[in-house]
Amino acid sequence: MKIKSICCLGAGYVGGPTMAMIAAKCPDIQVTVCDMNQERIDAWNTNELPVYEPGLHEVVVTARGRNLHFTTDIRPAIAAADLIFVSVGTPTKTYGIGAGRAADLRYIESAARLIAEVSHGHKIIVEKSTIPVKTASAIRTIITANTTSECTFEVLSNPEFLAEGTAVADLENPDRILIGGETTDSGKAAVEALAAIYARWIPRERIITTNLWSSELSKLVANAFLAQRISSINSISALCEATGADVDEVARAIGHDSRIGPKFLKASVGFGGSCFQKDILNLVYLCESFGLPEVATYWRQVVDLNNWQKSRFVENIVRTLFNTVNGKRIAILGFAFKKDTNDTRESPAIQVCRDLLREHAHLAIYDPRVDRASIHQDLSDAKIPASLIASNVEIHTDPYAAMKDAHALAALTEWDEFRDLDFKRIHDLMFKPAFVFDGRAILPTAKLKKLGFEAFIIGKGR
Ligand code: NAD
Ligand code: UGA
Repeated sequence: MKIKSICCLGAGYVGGPTMAMIAAKCPDIQVTVCDMNQERIDAWNTNELPVYEPGLHEVVVTARGRNLHFTTDIRPAIAAADLIFVSVGTPTKTYGIGAGRAADLRYIESAARLIAEVSHGHKIIVEKSTIPVKTASAIRTIITANTTSECTFEVLSNPEFLAEGTAVADLENPDRILIGGETTDSGKAAVEALAAIYARWIPRERIITTNLWSSELSKLVANAFLAQRISSINSISALCEATGADVDEVARAIGHDSRIGPKFLKASVGFGGSCFQKDILNLVYLCESFGLPEVATYWRQVVDLNNWQKSRFVENIVRTLFNTVNGKRIAILGFAFKKDTNDTRESPAIQVCRDLLREHAHLAIYDPRVDRASIHQDLSDAKIPASLIASNVEIHTDPYAAMKDAHALAALTEWDEFRDLDFKRIHDLMFKPAFVFDGRAILPTAKLKKLGFEAFIIGKGR
């Protein structure tokens, strides 16, 4: 079966970049990315893409208008497609049964119902979103119940492993592509049709095929293992601060063991992003649902430790600033959840800033990519009066303006440009003692000390 036309439901951080790469690599396949969010689709059709990713603009313009289209006209795009990627959000449920842990599958269900309503002939439906194990079975049930017998379909699982900030490189040269499918003849044919698309630019040995449930579960497990490494090194960062050991030296020493490896051992103020916490909570809920409370408790700790890491960072700031930050100006360097993205979802900066606001600190925030509206929206919290945010939060487009008359600066995102700031100028601008709290261990410590800063570095202490 040769795929000539692809549709993707969801033009977000995954749907947009992933489909742009497929379209760029397969000029003979028509790729239509759909979303009901008009503003997002409009942005994909301009040069101000809704997602900031290094190299993404170049990939989009290669194919846009040729075989890559962005539209809110969803029904015709589904009808014309041989293969439909479902790349909609799967956030943590905030209400009812499983609130705070289970995945909210309402967007997946509505996508499945829409596909059933519009489809004729044979379709391959591909789960690109991260979902709980057995979701393929729910999609199948919904579609079977809502289509006629002339309509045939296969459901595949093809989770996405790209990381934000490096999405283009990850899509161009992934460690692996994972495709789960049924072991029936038509299931195998569908797996091969999808594998053939990726094989245009990815070596066959990196395309792994499994059964549906292994593929769905592997995505949750991959994120859980990655986050577990960060919580592990962050737990050790606290011990390093208490003992005089240096967490980067410990990470280097253990990372040289080829069984451990060097990646994902950078201590931080905590991991953020839309997925790690959500996917671990999803795994925890699955374990509970399958009667495995010990396994659930084990993984829950990864999230608990991450929350503790963020809290202890703020407690340290308050304690160090003579037990009060009330009315003090604290410059916040970085609001995105990691460098090279404009995404702030679950960014550790949100909890740190909210906790400091609860202490009545005055925040002067600078991030090179995050816009003012996103920061305001993220800080809004039922427990923080809007008036406090209005009076105590300033957002700057110049880092030095944020630093002027600050009692402390806190680095919360590892943007490269922060390493090369003019720290002499910053020291001159700040109140003395000039305190620095480096939540990413990226600032030039020796230089800071020489200039007279009182610097606290995560995992290294003072
Ligand atoms: P996102 O919120 O940026 O995008 C999802 C989009 O889907 C939204 O624009 C929404 O309007 C749209 N949508 C919802 N229902 C729709 C429907 N019926 N038809 C068309 N569009 C619809 O989310 P995202 O970050 O792209 O994540 C999508 C999925 O991919 C999630 O399950 C996530 O866990 C997973 N994932 C994300 C990343 C990442 O780096 N962000 C990486 C790997 C996997
Ligand atoms: C992560 C995974 O890396 C991707 O493989 C996966 O596809 C994606 O989640 C997803 O499912 O959404 P992402 O969240 O975009 O990607 O970015 P990461 O590079 O994993 O960073 C996540 C968080 O951990 C960031 O806040 C980052 O600063 C932090 N981090 C990362 C550390 O604190 N230390 C590290 O050593 C690495």
